[in-house]
Amino acid sequence: MKIARNLLMVLTISLFVSTAAFANSDAALVKEGKHIFDTKKLGNCTACHAVEGMTFNSVGTQGPKLKGLKYWPTKTLYNTVFDIYAARGIKISAMPAFGRDGWLSDQQIRAVVAFLKTIN
Ligand code: HEC
Repeated sequence: MKIARNLLMVLTISLFVSTAAFANSDAALVKEGKHIFDTKKLGNCTACHAVEGMTFNSVGTQGPKLKGLKYWPTKTLYNTVFDIYAARGIKISAMPAFGRDGWLSDQQIRAVVAFLKTIN
């Protein structure tokens, strides 16, 4: 009985620790994504996009104000950043095809998407 209880305790603790670790790496990814979003030599997304509920030092207006993105499927967000032309079947856009043209790596786009997922 005591062994079973100890085992349960260990399981509970390890479950808690692994959930916390996941939450941590998630937060780190969001932070990295936000940095890429707002850094001129990286995504430079703020050059064209304002974001609902967030303030940046300066934002452009060429692109739509981003809102409600947390409701978008992750894959749709990834594809939009990777290559908005293919994602939307359009030929002309001010927005660069960040993945297709090698401006951002797969890992960087994943981080940006993690950040976009926090936009209400
Ligand atoms: C040079 C301007 C420009 C830059 C830089 C830019 N975008 Fe865009 N973005 C646009 C435009 C314009 C649209 C509207 C799509 C179109 O062209 O029809 C758009 C659309 C979007 C959409 C779809 C929004 C919606 O409500 O439909 C998302 C998401 C997005 N951009 C994310 C990003 C991210 C993330 C970055 C940076 C990695 C970025 N954009 C950089 C101009 C830009």
